[in-house]
Amino acid sequence: MAGAALLAAAAVAFVVCSLASATGDGQPRRHRPALLPAVYVFGDSLVDVGNNDFLPLPAPRAGFPCGVDLPRGTLGRRTGRFTNGYNLADFIAQRVGFNMSPPAYLSLTPQESLNLLSGRVGANYASGGSGILDDTGNGTITLREQIKLFANTKASMTKTELGHNRVNRLLSRSLFLISTAGNDFSAFSQGRATMSDASSYIPNMVSTYLKHIKVLYNLGARRLRLLDAVPIGCLPGSRASSVNDGACDDVANSLAQQFNTLLRLEMASATAAAMPGMEYSIASIYNIISDMISNPPLDGLEEVASACCGGGKLNAEFTCSATSNLCTNRSQYVFWDTVHETQAAYRRAVAAMFDSTAAAMYTEPISFHQLVTRKQGGPGAGIDLEHSFADQAAEI
Ligand SMILES: *[C@@H]1O[C@H](CO)[C@@H](O)[C@H](O)[C@H]1NC(C)=O
Ligand SMILES: *[C@@H]1O[C@H](CO)[C@@H](O)[C@H](O)[C@H]1NC(C)=O
Repeated sequence: MAGAALLAAAAVAFVVCSLASATGDGQPRRHRPALLPAVYVFGDSLVDVGNNDFLPLPAPRAGFPCGVDLPRGTLGRRTGRFTNGYNLADFIAQRVGFNMSPPAYLSLTPQESLNLLSGRVGANYASGGSGILDDTGNGTITLREQIKLFANTKASMTKTELGHNRVNRLLSRSLFLISTAGNDFSAFSQGRATMSDASSYIPNMVSTYLKHIKVLYNLGARRLRLLDAVPIGCLPGSRASSVNDGACDDVANSLAQQFNTLLRLEMASATAAAMPGMEYSIASIYNIISDMISNPPLDGLEEVASACCGGGKLNAEFTCSATSNLCTNRSQYVFWDTVHETQAAYRRAVAAMFDSTAAAMYTEPISFHQLVTRKQGGPGAGIDLEHSFADQAAEI
């Protein structure tokens, strides 16, 4: 099967970005004070902000020109993200009042470690190339390992003067964001699974995912945002290798859709049966990207098939590297490279998750706004938004 490409850029050597950039649209903006104590991020290259910079090959690295549109001076070095600027974790964190994603767990400075241990700001454990299954993403930090790292974090937090109860309280009000699944489909393009395996492979993905989520729940997560699987068949790399001359690969897309449907069903029943007090919202990044592709002008975009950075057919036969062909206006492209969206697309995607009309279409069973403002059961019971500000001020 053509398609189901690995959601990670080529493993190119890490190069510090040295070019100034003018065409980006990702200026950091200070939003309101944080609505939540912290954000904890898990998953793949759609949300990794630099953990893979610290991993040896074959883990994929986001080398130059990735990060070319990140504002100079905001970050010591501008790689780490598998796109030209900010990614989904950054824009979601901005919506709840932070400047960008919490820092990559493997990059924490002493000050950032102190913040993390005090239950503030949080950390990003995501690793580009990783998936739900342990077999996905050789050399990356698997989702299981990411959650283990978080478990270590929590153990250290409870040893501070905060103590167990306060830590649980802070965690129950923090946001847990997961973007995963895309890379697990690479098993089909790499021959580790065939289409006839899909009827067991996909349920196994979902049940493994739910086991991981249950571990997070047991560690104190009560506000969970999941991003479903993107339309993998419409990624430029899939189109470039498609037999249908650049069209979306419908077979690959149907795998993602089967997963997305089952995830919603299983998540609802697992929450009802075994995770009391869990509030979650699943955002359909699948539908958001599909709609962007079918009506680009609606989003102020123009190019929906080819990659901005790459080479060959649709600029997507070759992965993005320092010597790639780079498009002239990155703000007009949905896709940055063979498998990742641009900052422009990520910004619009997150706007759609929060916009009150679009959110009803793209998020379920509750909206993102409800997720972060609703009163909760469990350790944080009865906190409304206003009190949550006051509590937070008292706690930090
Ligand atoms: C993982 O990568 C290492 C190093 O490149 C390689 O030796 C090993 O065979 C790979 N394992 C799998 C399962 O592909
Ligand atoms: C790039 O594209 C955006 C969106 O279409 C447009 O607003 C902007 O003017 C363009 N910039 C240049 C330098 O052409």
